[in-house]
Amino acid sequence: MASSSFSAPVGTRDVMPPESAQWVELVARFAQHVANAGFGLVQSPMFEDLGVFLRVGEGTDIVTKEMYDFIDKGGRHLALRPEGTASIVRAYLQHRPQRNPWKAWYVAPNFRYERPQAGRYRQHHQLGVEVLGSPDADLDVEVITLQADFYAQLGLRQLRLLLNSMGTPEDRSNYTTLLGTWLQDHSDQLHPQDLETARTNPMRVLDSKRAETVAALSEAPSVLESLSEYALEHFERVQQGLRAAEVDFDVEPRLVRGLDYYTHSTFEFQALALEGAQNAIGGGGRYDGLASALGGPETPGVGFGSGIERILLALQAEEALRPAEQVPLAFVVDTTGGTHARDLVTQARRAGLFLDRAYDRRSMKSQMKAADRSGAALALIIGEEEAAADNVTVRDLRGPASQMSLERSDLIEYLRKQP
Ligand code: HAM
Repeated sequence: MASSSFSAPVGTRDVMPPESAQWVELVARFAQHVANAGFGLVQSPMFEDLGVFLRVGEGTDIVTKEMYDFIDKGGRHLALRPEGTASIVRAYLQHRPQRNPWKAWYVAPNFRYERPQAGRYRQHHQLGVEVLGSPDADLDVEVITLQADFYAQLGLRQLRLLLNSMGTPEDRSNYTTLLGTWLQDHSDQLHPQDLETARTNPMRVLDSKRAETVAALSEAPSVLESLSEYALEHFERVQQGLRAAEVDFDVEPRLVRGLDYYTHSTFEFQALALEGAQNAIGGGGRYDGLASALGGPETPGVGFGSGIERILLALQAEEALRPAEQVPLAFVVDTTGGTHARDLVTQARRAGLFLDRAYDRRSMKSQMKAADRSGAALALIIGEEEAAADNVTVRDLRGPASQMSLERSDLIEYLRKQP
């Protein structure tokens, strides 16, 4: 069949049935899961003032290289959202909700001009939560446990949770300086491309996959050695809480997340069934300095975001979560021109029953074929005879060939009783 001259832009994809049924199921389950924990949905605009996202970190790839920014017709410098947290904090500061802590969840597209590959898109979608207003480590535990339980409920088993702490903003900044100096002192052992990163954003070097850098880093100072007493206590409380909740984790002092706003806890769930580079199915952390960076009062926050596409890939790899396909209860075969099928389908749908039918006045044979293909258990046949007698022939499409005649007025009640 000839297709049009257009296809979805590079790095984007259409989510089509039957995959989209999994998508619907995933979002519905997430909505239920987080509602149970007191989170309310926030829908924020897909674009914001560029400045909102600059606060995510001027040394991060998503800001410096991957932003979809543009000047609108009114001369405003805007950007498509590359991640959800900054938008939620902006909304919080704008509306100042009274509740404390304030708990928000979202499901939203994000845009990053990345090099597309399996599991890495220019438009991806995240499910996530943010809690604003409290520095309590128990909220870090709540958020991480919520995420772990969601994955478990979906049937994902092969996951690894990495946990780290960046400490207070001062701890983080001290460590960045310490690491920067160490990297300069060991520059001869690093891959040349990492040297450049070492100058602009030393922590990102910890993320390097290049063999010589990885080898050199085994001697590098650990962020955990730079934690202040408060940060250590906070981190300890988070770990205790996770143990109490029986959420397995590995402390990974090299875990660097691609965003600059993190303080204290950072974490990432990796799907072991997926390719290394794209195996992060969700991550998050605490960001106590983000609200003030956006010009608001000091407001601690913690949350996570999880890529829907990656969750679906992991589910596929583990052969979990297969929502049943929507199969009609019965298929109406109307050989009198379609009027009976039309009215019966409407009546049934209003009664909450899924009936399907064929269109275009097709032959009996062609309609019966469509009925078979639909997966329906019953065919409701209306020919001239049935129409005249105001009844319907009900034919079993699954079991041994059998059929019976039903008064049209009894049909909906009969269908309701079907298993
Ligand atoms: P992030 O790690 O940049 O964090 O993204 C969260 C998740 O989104 C990733 O773990 C991954 O599953 C998915 N993801 C990211 N980029 C792509 C992509 N190009 N293609 C497909 N999936 C992708 C954040 O965005 C933070 N806002 C998370 C957070 C919430 N931190 C605190 N609260």
